[in-house]
Amino acid sequence: MYDEQYRPQLHFSPKENWMNDPNGLVYYKGEYHLFYQYHPHSMVWGPMHWGHAVSKDLLHWEELPIALYPDELGQIFSGSAVVDTQNTSGLKTSDEDVMVAIFTHHGEDNEKQSIAYSNDRGITWVKYAGNPIIPNPGQKDFRDPKVFWHEESEKWVMSLASGDCIRFYGSPNLIDWELLSVFGSEYGAHGGVWECPDLIQLPVEGEDQKKWVLIVSINPGGPNGGSVVQYFVGEFDGVEFVCDDRPEVVKWADFGRDFYAAVTWSNFPEPIWIGWMSNWQYANQVPSEPFRSAMSIPRKLGLRRVDGEFTLVQSPIDLSSLFKKAVVSNETITLRPSEIYQVKLDNRPLFAKANVLNSTASEFLITFRGEQERLEIVFDQKRKEVRIDRRDSGQISFSELFASIDRMPLARLNDFTLILDKTSIELFVNQGNRVMTELFFPLESEFTLDFRALDGEVILENVELRHLESTWK
Ligand code: FRU
Repeated sequence: MYDEQYRPQLHFSPKENWMNDPNGLVYYKGEYHLFYQYHPHSMVWGPMHWGHAVSKDLLHWEELPIALYPDELGQIFSGSAVVDTQNTSGLKTSDEDVMVAIFTHHGEDNEKQSIAYSNDRGITWVKYAGNPIIPNPGQKDFRDPKVFWHEESEKWVMSLASGDCIRFYGSPNLIDWELLSVFGSEYGAHGGVWECPDLIQLPVEGEDQKKWVLIVSINPGGPNGGSVVQYFVGEFDGVEFVCDDRPEVVKWADFGRDFYAAVTWSNFPEPIWIGWMSNWQYANQVPSEPFRSAMSIPRKLGLRRVDGEFTLVQSPIDLSSLFKKAVVSNETITLRPSEIYQVKLDNRPLFAKANVLNSTASEFLITFRGEQERLEIVFDQKRKEVRIDRRDSGQISFSELFASIDRMPLARLNDFTLILDKTSIELFVNQGNRVMTELFFPLESEFTLDFRALDGEVILENVELRHLESTWK
């Protein structure tokens, strides 16, 4: 079990069949719940259910029975969950706090918002008899409610994707909702429909202030094509979100092709999110079996001023409990032109990390290499960009949109962290200022990791390279 060729060993994937967005992320009494868009009868997208998994550490997951099934109001599309500690909803019936899930019912011809509740720590769910709680106002795309308790105005606030903007609603009890405001039509990227919003407050690193960050997935319209996550930084007063940036500014959370629909855990003190590690351009065709798609590694979020700009920063949750004996530890490595520093790999997952002390090279390359295949990361100092080239990375022909060189602007590389699983790479650079997540499907089984510098030297410091335990054991 969980040992198929393309089964991620570090990332959550369902035992079998189709999965997309993370839903209902909520923490309660030591358990992180992960619900997700799930089709239990097929390897392709279809009638959506909420699948369910729990974890005590965000690394080891146990898949549980399906939490929500489609019904006469429609399929169960994306949404969120909260712990209603004060029982504002009046839906509490046991000693446990009542959990309320807020989701989209996707009917044949319209989308509306509904709720369900659980009085047994999120295991079984009852749909509210008065659904829907927000009927469709005559808007085709009207979905993905994400709810949180807004302390200052003492009410629940919902962000909802509505066409190509976000509507905010407020409620005293999770049942009766009023429209507060609408944000977005003139802001950010609009290459596609807006989906899966999240509104969170983050402290600014090293400063004595907090800012509000509005997260919005968009499909299509990503910088490298397809579905992608953008965000806005500003203020929220309980009614309106006011963006700090000029309307034309676009901020991408992850420049890779395979990070989508990311949202944060509710009822947990630290901001942690997870995204669906695929792209609507080819998600239905990727060659894994008997399941399709995995989630990203859970990532801690922060906000940092980078060159004067508020930037969402991400770092993977601590993986050290999975570390095996180091392949390379605490080393300084000088890469000279035409030399290759090569590490033979036993297996994946693999964790790599280094500081870049000095670089006179025009390009610094990290290549995951088999005999015929390779996945290459190029830090290009001249063009001031990072490229991930997956054109020769193994299986690519399942979709003509898959093989690509994907780019991310980067003025200067200071450090990198790399997480390599069976079919994915997550690259965090400059303490999480920039991130790229990409899938690949190698055919070979023996690989090396090659480090090279072109036309100059690169000095890597504190190099750490570790194989990781599988999280399925
Ligand atoms: C995003 C999305 C959501 C929707 C769900 C349907 O990937 O399109 O907007 O609720 O997937 O599965």
